[in-house]
Amino acid sequence: MTKPKTSRQAARPKLLVLHGPNLNLLGTREPQHYGTVTLADINLALARRAESAGVDLEAFQSNHEGALIERIHAAGAEGIGAIILNPAAWTHTSVAIRDALAAVMIPFVEVHLSNVHAREPFRQHSFFSDLALGVITGLGHQGYLLALEFLLDKFHADA
Ligand code: DQA
Repeated sequence: MTKPKTSRQAARPKLLVLHGPNLNLLGTREPQHYGTVTLADINLALARRAESAGVDLEAFQSNHEGALIERIHAAGAEGIGAIILNPAAWTHTSVAIRDALAAVMIPFVEVHLSNVHAREPFRQHSFFSDLALGVITGLGHQGYLLALEFLLDKFHADA
């Protein structure tokens, strides 16, 4: 039987990783831009690192904008401490997801596998970067782990 938490025990910090459209195809999708590591591999590496740091981490991917917005709204009610977000193509189009993040006021790190600044001009504008704690772009799948390290450090410093 697990012991009930006393008020002196701090709750485990909770992190959410959000992946936008087409990222379920990582591994085979345009490997020249996105590499060959699958989304399942990325999520597993993040889950292992979070577990070793004593942090709860959930990953969620959707190809439906409304589903991502509703996941962000729910995160506000669930006490999620921070989000790692790759909005994928919605980076360049979605005022609605930006507004959802602004509404819940959960700090987030924006991650892109490819270097969006070295690609087509339409990828060089993000609706998220000015709200983000920071942006990691072009470091492939390692970008997610670097974002996680940053947030673990931040949780530690803020605790
Ligand atoms: C991406 C970059 C976006 O421009 C693109 O639409 C994606 C993935 C990246 O991770 O490099 O789907 O966010």
